[in-house]
Amino acid sequence: MIKILFVCLGNICRSPSAEGVFRYQTNKLQNKNAGSQNLYIDSAGTAGFHVSSPPDKRAQITALKYGVNISNLRARKLSSIDFENFDYLLAMDNSNLEVMKNNCPLNNQNKLHLFMSFSENNFGVTDVPDPYYGDIEDFEKSYKIITSASYGFLKFLINKYNL
Ligand code: 4NP
Repeated sequence: MIKILFVCLGNICRSPSAEGVFRYQTNKLQNKNAGSQNLYIDSAGTAGFHVSSPPDKRAQITALKYGVNISNLRARKLSSIDFENFDYLLAMDNSNLEVMKNNCPLNNQNKLHLFMSFSENNFGVTDVPDPYYGDIEDFEKSYKIITSASYGFLKFLINKYNL
């Protein structure tokens, strides 16, 4: 089992979208490829402002437009046990990566990655832009970037583990 955790600030916009998109992309692959390695997929926020909340309505609407239903996800805060339990902890931006680095034991630092480092198209950014204070267009932009990074990460896993 490969365990993957997507991490942003509030766990209501970017990381639940990434969780939903990545699950959708891997389900498609697994339907074609029976017996492929199991993946455990989750998301969390470095801040606890929105714990137990569903994803932001704008994130839900944007994902659903592309066939991805994230309405059943609930926000949770990143916990120190996550550094132990997960194999890949993917930060949506550099500021969250910094928080993760500061909280992660040395022996698990190699599990921390910037999500965009897996994207084939970098869109001129290293961070998935935070759409929270923006409008639905900003959610759309972030969603496109997330889709690309998610696909790049999936390709990375396929190569590395022969999924
Ligand atoms: P996220 O977006 O980190 O992509 O979930 C945010 C959600 C909430 C807040 C900031 C960013 N907030 O300040 O409440």
